[in-house]
Order: sequence, then structure tokens, then C-alpha cells
Amino acid sequence: MLIDKMRTALEAVGIPQPAKDDPIIIDENANLSIIAWGDPQISFVSPLRSARLSSACRDLENMQGKADVLMLLGDICEFGKQAELMMAAEIIRGAGDKFSNFLAVSGNHDIRARSYRPQLERFNRFIKSVNGGIAGTNEHYYFSTEINSYKFIMMGSDSTAFESSHISNAQLDWLDRELASCGGRPVFVLNHQTLDRTNGLPVTWLGRGDWRGSVGKQSDAIKETFERYKNIWFITGHLHYGVSKYNFEDYGAYKALSLPTVGVLNHGSFDRNGQGYILSVYDDKVTVRARVFGDGKYVDSNLPGAYFEVKID
Ligand SMILES: [Fe+2]
Repeated sequence: MLIDKMRTALEAVGIPQPAKDDPIIIDENANLSIIAWGDPQISFVSPLRSARLSSACRDLENMQGKADVLMLLGDICEFGKQAELMMAAEIIRGAGDKFSNFLAVSGNHDIRARSYRPQLERFNRFIKSVNGGIAGTNEHYYFSTEINSYKFIMMGSDSTAFESSHISNAQLDWLDRELASCGGRPVFVLNHQTLDRTNGLPVTWLGRGDWRGSVGKQSDAIKETFERYKNIWFITGHLHYGVSKYNFEDYGAYKALSLPTVGVLNHGSFDRNGQGYILSVYDDKVTVRARVFGDGKYVDSNLPGAYFEVKID
């Protein structure tokens, strides 16, 4: 396989591979286990990104047990190119027997400078090329699915945008109906960008601009929709910010979890490559633990944002 040849090459030039002495152990008592990564941003302009994603996947290969979900929170690639998405899929398939379902939402890099409908079809083909991949229709990026009786809502821009997302009124109405159907049960809403002034913005977008780093103009409308319900986990990427006090913020109705990048360089004081989170969902709580998948190590639990438990209301 291509992935085997690539790993051999990486090891030959000294790219470190994750340690194996502290593997992920999936808790079989959890109702749901999730591996959550942000922004692989695979590109031929930086082969190191492929190397970092490959290292993270190798950590999954060493995992004890099988996760219910591997999710990627957008910016799978840099330019939306077919070859970039094929590379990402090839790398992820190397750990394909370690997760049952694969979810991915589109990021600004995946869709910008592309024709909307053909790129949507390309993105859906990418999702389906990974085992367990669950994609929506070729009408729009947003769709929902259920895994282990929990709803997952995938959002996405309704038009091509350079940095933010455009969430149409139709998608907002649909989001409202989807959340209403959950009846207060924990629900996972996936979107590339977080809401305005959350998850440390504007600090986590390096202080640039009022709305920048966020979903954009529809931020308040999404927030108002969330506030009508409870136990919403709003999981996002885009910020490339390493594990810190900003990654998780509890707003009552919704819990904002912003993921570091697994493929690009992380900002902030904790800037190891290949970071992400592992979520375990139980009847009464969700536990969230940060891991440097690229190193094969959990993040020191004394670091803010490294480990926390959230009670289910
Ligand atoms: Fe992004």
C-alpha cells in the first residue's frame, strides 16, 4: 500500500513515530467513544502535514479497542484538490479497522475557490472512500445521522466562502428541527468554525478582527438556536490552537469544544504536533481527554483543557 511506502520513507528520514507504551484504551463501558481531530489540511506544499496525520493514525493502530467514531472537523486539505483528499483518505484508511464510523465536515480550505456543487460531490466521495464514512446528499453539506442512538449534526457552508461559512436560513431552520428532535439527549453538532467571541476568540485567531476565526455573520443566530435546547456539544476546528483553557467552554445549553490541529502547526504555549481529543459518553457524563496522537501520549492532566468531565443535564 502507498501508506506503507510513505511510512517507511518517513522513518528513514527521521520523522518520529508515536510511542507505544501508553496506548489509547477504549472504555467498553462507554455508550459512545469518539476520536476528534481538527484540520489535517493535507497539501503537497507541506508533506509534513501528511506525516503528522500518518503518525496520529499510527497511534490509533496501537489503540486497545475500537472507537465508535473518528471525526475530522474540516480543512481536510489545503486547496480542495482531488489528489489532496485522496492522500488524506489513504492515510486514514491505514487505521481503518480502529473506528466504526467516519465523519467529516467541510472547512473553508476544502471549498473556497471551487465550484460549489462539484466540490460537494468530491467531498462526499472522499468521505465514502474511508471505511464507515457517512456522507450526506449532494444537495448541501449539512445532514444528520445517528450512531449508537446519539444524533450527530453536520453543518457546512451553503455557499463558497473564503474564511467564514454561510449558514442559510434553510439550514438554521433545519438545525432547529434537528435539535428539537433530540428531546434533550446529548447531541453532537459539528462545524468547522466556532461561534464569535467563544473558544478564546479573538486571542485564538491571534487577535485579528472582530468576527475572524468564527463562523461569521450567522454566529448569533446559531447561538440563539442552541440556547433553546440543552446538552449540545458544538465541536469545531479552524483555530489551530493547542490544548489550553480556550479549547472547552461551557455555555450551559451548549458546550463549545474547539479542537487543535492534527496536521498543521498549533498556536499557543502547548504546540506539540498531532493533538486531538478523545470523548467518552456515558449516561450521566461526558469525559474529554486531550492526547498528542503524534507522540502517542496523553497531555499532562494538569494543563488547562487537558482533561475534564461534563455532567449531562
Ligand atoms: Fe479553516
